[in-house]
Amino acid sequence: MPVTIKSAREIELMKEAGRILEIVHDELGKALHPGMTTLDIDRLGEEIIRSYGCEPSFLNYNGYPASICVSVNDEVVHGIPSKRAILKEGDIISIDMGAILDGWHSDAARTFGVGKISDEAQNLIDVTRQSFFEGIKYVKHGAKLGDVSSAIQQYVESHGYSVVRDLVGHGIGRNLHEDPSVPNFGKAGHGVKLAAGMTIAIEPMVNAGDYHVAVLDDDWTVVTDDGSLSAHYENTVLITKDGCEILTL
Ligand code: MF3
Ligand code: CO
Repeated sequence: MPVTIKSAREIELMKEAGRILEIVHDELGKALHPGMTTLDIDRLGEEIIRSYGCEPSFLNYNGYPASICVSVNDEVVHGIPSKRAILKEGDIISIDMGAILDGWHSDAARTFGVGKISDEAQNLIDVTRQSFFEGIKYVKHGAKLGDVSSAIQQYVESHGYSVVRDLVGHGIGRNLHEDPSVPNFGKAGHGVKLAAGMTIAIEPMVNAGDYHVAVLDDDWTVVTDDGSLSAHYENTVLITKDGCEILTL
């Protein structure tokens, strides 16, 4: 799939789809509490997405059986919501979701703590979020994607954590996943050249331990190999002439 440049009208729709996702993340963040199940999160999130006239883009994507990915503790991404997965105080929960408005996609992820969490867990969440902002300092027309990837990697590794290699960010637009791939590791000065009007999802997945991951028997849930905690932070970003605009913030 080629890298596409979006028109002003298309960007408006993606921005609106992004604004709605941010509202859903805020609502879910406020609703989280011990005793809730990950299926409750899926139901509530889907209901809010639809209440704004959007469709949840993950539902049935490559056979994915839910609207939202909810990944708990050592689960990195693609956790399938379940009524058996009950949140408890101290858990960290990564919520990843996409919305489609009139055929145009937005995609965003946040990691939240349930009740009081450990300082280590909070630090992992903070470093993961900040790594995204370290990366977007380099996003602008004419920059190389490797500048962004390497800034994310360096920031994460300077805090003693690792970036997942097996999963990456992506272009986004009329499809949830478009070119280019957007890795969270790499070399400055290398990779795809960014251009104004491109839209990409930048999504660092950060493990407290080693970067190796495995997929569970459900064929979806990605977990850390070493059982360490993992956090995720993602926004849909529009590249502009002299920087970028975050469409999901
Ligand atoms: N959340 C993933 C991404 O950010 C995509 C989810 S795949 C799905 O790219 F099948 F779970 F929807
Ligand atoms: Co994504």
